Amino acid sequence: MQVDLQGRVAVVTGAAQGIGRSIAEALARNGALVTVSDVQEAKGRATAKELGLNAVFRRCDVSDAAQVRELFAAVAAEHGRIDIAVNNAGINTDKPEERVTVDQYPDETWRRILSVDLDGTFYCCKAAAAQMVKQRSGVIVNIASIAGVVPLRLQVGFVAAKAGVIRMTEAMACELGPMGVRVNCVSPGSTLVEGTRQLFYNNKELAQRLVSFIPQGRPGETDEIAAAVLYLVSDAGSYVNGHNLIVDGGWTCGFSRDF
Ligand SMILES: NC(=O)c1ccc[n+]([C@@H]2O[C@H](COP(=O)([O-])OP(=O)(O)OC[C@H]3O[C@@H](n4cnc5c(N)ncnc54)[C@H](O)[C@@H]3O)[C@@H](O)[C@H]2O)c1
Repeated sequence: MQVDLQGRVAVVTGAAQGIGRSIAEALARNGALVTVSDVQEAKGRATAKELGLNAVFRRCDVSDAAQVRELFAAVAAEHGRIDIAVNNAGINTDKPEERVTVDQYPDETWRRILSVDLDGTFYCCKAAAAQMVKQRSGVIVNIASIAGVVPLRLQVGFVAAKAGVIRMTEAMACELGPMGVRVNCVSPGSTLVEGTRQLFYNNKELAQRLVSFIPQGRPGETDEIAAAVLYLVSDAGSYVNGHNLIVDGGWTCGFSRDF
């Protein structure tokens, strides 16, 4: 997919690898000046280098409000503006002792996931909005999940965080629309990244069971999530505000298995 983002200033969190990396790559390829941000310093730097002249790396732990403020202030100071913020950094857990029903769900797991997936997204939106409102322009895209649309069992923290991201996105769209700022989110379904390969897709039986829930019969590719983000941040999406764009091969549209 090709759009014109020539000279637009963009920040992508959690961009060292996975979906965030593909988003950063797509933005840079279409002309944006991209700040690749992540807690993983070496990997983040390597990613920015591979993306070429249009990308730089800045370390930031999104669960730390002060670090987030510093990140967005540094980008604004460098370029004088921020046009695009993609708040993608997120975590979940694959530990069996943390994939449990709510009565046993560890408080620590709840706090850890919420602090990155919900608090972190809030801090990033707040810092991006502060600059964008000044400019009277800008686009924010939050990466949520289908788990925030249709709850998955044994992941109550992740489900709550992502549902919060979707509602928060809508609330911010109402607030910031009059100030020239659009806020949307993308909810990926099961997408091929290192984590999901280890968890499901390297195991043929598990993989088959999982994709049997997906009408398109396969997991998503990170580029397919990046394409949705590209649409929302580009001028093609200029009248789209407060939307949750689900990219899940049809998983959440109904029951795809026979009774
Ligand atoms: N892969 C999927 O199937 C899937 C499905 C639905 C939603 N998502 C969402 O997509 C986003 C990207 O996930 P992914 O699959 O690429 O995972 P990933 O683990 O490959 O990438 C996440 C990145 O975020 C970074 N990160 C983690 N904690 C951070 C923090 N506190 N501050 C800054 N960066 C941090 C990690 O270092 C990593 O580079 C997440 O928000 C995730 O919830 C993924």
